[in-house]
Amino acid sequence: MTNQEVIPQRKIFNIESTLFEQLAAPMPGMSTRVNGTKLRKLYLQSMSQQWNPTDKLVFSEPEPMPEKLRDIWIRFGTIFYTLEEMGLHTLNHMMGAASNKLASDDVAFYLSTQCADEARHVFLIEQYLSRLGARPHFDRKFRILSRIASQGLYRVENWMFSTLFSENFASAFLRRARSAEIDGFGQTMCAGILKDEHRHIHFLNIVLPDVIERLNLVSRTYIKTSQFFIMKFTEHVSRCLEEDGKCVGIPRQELLEEAFENMKKTYESFGVGRDFLVFPSIRSA
Ligand SMILES: [Fe+2]
Ligand SMILES: [Fe+2]
Repeated sequence: MTNQEVIPQRKIFNIESTLFEQLAAPMPGMSTRVNGTKLRKLYLQSMSQQWNPTDKLVFSEPEPMPEKLRDIWIRFGTIFYTLEEMGLHTLNHMMGAASNKLASDDVAFYLSTQCADEARHVFLIEQYLSRLGARPHFDRKFRILSRIASQGLYRVENWMFSTLFSENFASAFLRRARSAEIDGFGQTMCAGILKDEHRHIHFLNIVLPDVIERLNLVSRTYIKTSQFFIMKFTEHVSRCLEEDGKCVGIPRQELLEEAFENMKKTYESFGVGRDFLVFPSIRSA
């Protein structure tokens, strides 16, 4: 027996810190197009933060809700369901292209966990809509967004920039929705999804600076144009939710301003400046 004291190690995402650092080291000869260490850390973080909806949420009888509120959350929920559903399927078919383009299995590891997140989001919103008495369905007018975001030229790059906007917009919405006039199930669901979306933004913060550095004049112009169209489309279609937003405490103007401001700050942190993209003006309905 020795009197040597065993000092408990600090844990990072449920893993002892020295083991965490060891596991985050990229394999020799891996791609230098992306930061493999940061991606592996994010992969480990994502694995440790996976959650089961039935552990977090109570799937018993829905709480009673005034009819007017219920109708509003069905309209918001249907759009959110459409965007998450579209995000899940787009991610599924872009995952291979993205890891090929960035020549990185680290990207594939991490994006596989993001796929699981998006599937959980679709599942939960589907459940939420059913609890409100609505049939979850895909709103076809949004299909144009996935076409612009992941088809045509520079599709991997364009998809990543589009995701930066959609994740920022979703986060701004969820931050407001969880404290808006909503039932307990909706509140817990929004808080859980928001935590996942933060990781998705983190991924883009890791890879996009390197992607930007490799853009040439043509790809830069193409991406800026397509991003402007996506944001303009969002600004336009969200006008029909202005009144609903006022009723539950999600002012549309503030929501869009917050999402645009966060985008500007992110581009500033990438070193390309706040005016890297042209942002549409926000008009009232
Ligand atoms: Fe999501
Ligand atoms: Fe996401």
